[in-house]
Amino acid sequence: MSVTYEGLWRMLSYRNVSAADLRKVTGIAPNTMTKLKRNEDVALSILGKICSLLECDYGDIVSYVSDESMAPDDISSFGINNRRYLGNKYKLLPFITEIVNSHCSGISSVADIFSGTGAVASAFTDKQIITNDLMYSNYICNYAWFGSQSFDRSKVIKIISKYNNMVVNENNYMTENFSDTYFSKSDCAKIGYIRENIETLYYQHKINDREKALLIMSLIYAMDKIANTCGHYDAYIQNAIFDKHLKLSMPNVKSLNNPLNQCYNEDANELVEHIYADLVYIDPPYNSRQYCDAYHLLENVAKWEKPDVFGVAKKMDRSAMKSRYCTRTAEKAFRELVERINAKYILFSYNNMANKGNDRSNAKITDEAIVDILSQKGSVQVFEESYKAFSTGKSDIKDNAERLFLCVCNR
Ligand SMILES: C[S@@+](CC[C@H](N)C(=O)[O-])C[C@H]1O[C@@H](n2cnc3c(N)ncnc32)[C@H](O)[C@@H]1O
Repeated sequence: MSVTYEGLWRMLSYRNVSAADLRKVTGIAPNTMTKLKRNEDVALSILGKICSLLECDYGDIVSYVSDESMAPDDISSFGINNRRYLGNKYKLLPFITEIVNSHCSGISSVADIFSGTGAVASAFTDKQIITNDLMYSNYICNYAWFGSQSFDRSKVIKIISKYNNMVVNENNYMTENFSDTYFSKSDCAKIGYIRENIETLYYQHKINDREKALLIMSLIYAMDKIANTCGHYDAYIQNAIFDKHLKLSMPNVKSLNNPLNQCYNEDANELVEHIYADLVYIDPPYNSRQYCDAYHLLENVAKWEKPDVFGVAKKMDRSAMKSRYCTRTAEKAFRELVERINAKYILFSYNNMANKGNDRSNAKITDEAIVDILSQKGSVQVFEESYKAFSTGKSDIKDNAERLFLCVCNR
């Protein structure tokens, strides 16, 4: 049995508190801090001190991880937040769960219908989860994290280990199109080989859908770690030195998920016509930046249809992947979405950049429109994320705040 203090680090990051600040304020000894960082056992009294300072419960900062969900020593492991993703709500989970726990009751199913990385769904694994995203690369990761199909952990680890120990020199779709752009030629060769091999294993019935998803996700997270970009694929850094190389890890995925979980890859506006959840969480893009532009390469590798790519950024045709939420019709799309939702509660995340940034970063839906649309469905309350005052005082985010609009639906 092992412990993880992931919740503690998340909470500190949410409150803008460094580990050094925590140590100073609580007087925790340096060797105890090291134990916390290494996920080793520490006395309950230490955790109690931290809880009383952060005004939280033990379960918010420490959790149990079964040994079988840990990867063996020669393969590292990764969690859902170990990737860069625009608008990822991982750090906002304490804010989101606080609102849900204190304002919603009788929730046994949660639909995260613009799920991206799946970070928000990951906070509700004690319930039935429905995930959905327009991008296949996100669907496949969500299915890997939350799908209910069983999988053979040791088989997946063996395949990952084999990939990590291989030297690949072949020419393939990746080397022909992406050599020395986002990745070095040799990493492109390896990415192309691995992705093709996953497909072969699947068609030979050597891996099932869940195992395939786990392997593709492991590749996506490994690519993100070494990509020669500043986090997205709109451009790559010219004349880069490729000093990091592809190494796959095993996701810290649970052995058993709720058998009622469902994962979709649809337009959210279509999806809500055929699902019900007690709580529907909505986190659409809020400005004109299309996710299929920012993550085209991950989408390309996930789908593996090997399309032609164009221009300096080497993007494929993405016309069928564009989101209405990044356009002038965002408000209309949101109105239609809310009308169609069948739920007890709707929780809507939106950034307050409307008309405060430049054209590209301006939010597409005004606060007035949001409240008007949600009010047609029930009573609405708005919560603004407030970093609790704590020693560092870095809390002034008023001009770029995340808000949650909670609608208690009339039924
Ligand atoms: C702000 S991000 C969500 C981030 C997510 N909550 C997380 O924590 O990672 C918005 C997501 O909506 C997806 N998206 C955009 N338009 C969509 C649509 N019409 N239907 C479903 N998903 C859509 C994008 O692909 C993107 O992943």
